[in-house]
Amino acid sequence: MDMYNDLLLNIENLDVCYKISDGIVKAVKDVSFYLRKGEVLGLVGESGCGKTTLIKAILKLLPSNGYIANGEIYFKDREITKMDNEQLRRIRWNEISMITQSAMNALDPVYKVGDQIVEAILTHKAVSKKEAYSRAMELFNLVGLEKGRLNDFPHQFSGGMKQRAIIAMALALNPEIIIADEPTTALDVVVQAQILERINTLLAGYDGSMIMVTHDISVIAQTCHRIVVMYGGRVMEFGNAIEVLKEPNHPYSMGLKNAFPSITGEKRNLISIPGTPPNLLKPPKGCRFNERCPFALEKCFHEEPMLQGTKGGYVACHRFYEAEDLRAEAGKEETWMKIRKRRVMV
Ligand SMILES: Nc1ncnc2c1ncn2[C@@H]1O[C@H](COP(=O)(O)OP(=O)(O)O)[C@@H](O)[C@H]1O
Ligand SMILES: [Mg+2]
Repeated sequence: MDMYNDLLLNIENLDVCYKISDGIVKAVKDVSFYLRKGEVLGLVGESGCGKTTLIKAILKLLPSNGYIANGEIYFKDREITKMDNEQLRRIRWNEISMITQSAMNALDPVYKVGDQIVEAILTHKAVSKKEAYSRAMELFNLVGLEKGRLNDFPHQFSGGMKQRAIIAMALALNPEIIIADEPTTALDVVVQAQILERINTLLAGYDGSMIMVTHDISVIAQTCHRIVVMYGGRVMEFGNAIEVLKEPNHPYSMGLKNAFPSITGEKRNLISIPGTPPNLLKPPKGCRFNERCPFALEKCFHEEPMLQGTKGGYVACHRFYEAEDLRAEAGKEETWMKIRKRRVMV
């Protein structure tokens, strides 16, 4: 696995499932990717494609019906899936910190916000209370909260302010990796961009890395070096963020790109991908995107495509060698309308 010596996190062939009364949800299937030191990696895909499941698995924070069915997760040379709670406790927050989607409830209502941050710093670092407090002030400043607010209780904060406080908390110990699950969706776009920019500057200062989960590719374009595109629990494509967004090689990435305003400001119609993601209790045979893909061939319904190397990354599509032609087609609305017709026919 020592492909790069700056490899920080390496995920290999990860399968994550949930047990429910109807059977087993295969939420993440055979996912592999890596994160380098100092890198911001974007994880993108529609709601329900397995993003949250994947990142919770990294710190073994899955709900009780969730489990890792296969695969390995290396944090440097340490394998996470086999760690016990004590080993995990030492890594969580200190070395890898997580800003979860439900971060709003992560603050304790009975303590002042500032005290919670100070307490957290003191538990993990040998510093004086005064130093911890000035660190808390610094962090509040970074996320755009007035330092006087450190004396407030969580209920005195608006949703957006709570979210900022949670981000401050996640940054408190300069973790090597910050995993952020749609961290700024509660904030308006201008503030989102501003906070992400500040997080990036802070990370760059100590060579920290981030995995940034989002369903919004414009966020990726602004913040990330590399991108992983997920669909139906699988990695469809990954590579350099700008290259993948400029010249996607997977029809699903092409569709995602159509659904967002152009990152270069060029005018175009927004086209959404018709249909809904597959039911992961019973994932489709072949490519998981086949039913919604305007370019699907017979083969795509039988044989699951494997990730193959492209110019600057990897893609799992049987027709990747035609990507340039497909891109031209994918930009037209009628291409995607065809799927609607096909769905009505079958
Ligand atoms: N606790 C759970 N029990 C059963 N299924 C779950 C649970 N959490 C998520 N899932 C299912 O796993 C799949 C992936 O969900 P999730 O990881 O939340 O996706 P995303 O974060 O991309 O929206 C979905 O099909 C979802 O319904
Ligand atoms: Mg999610």
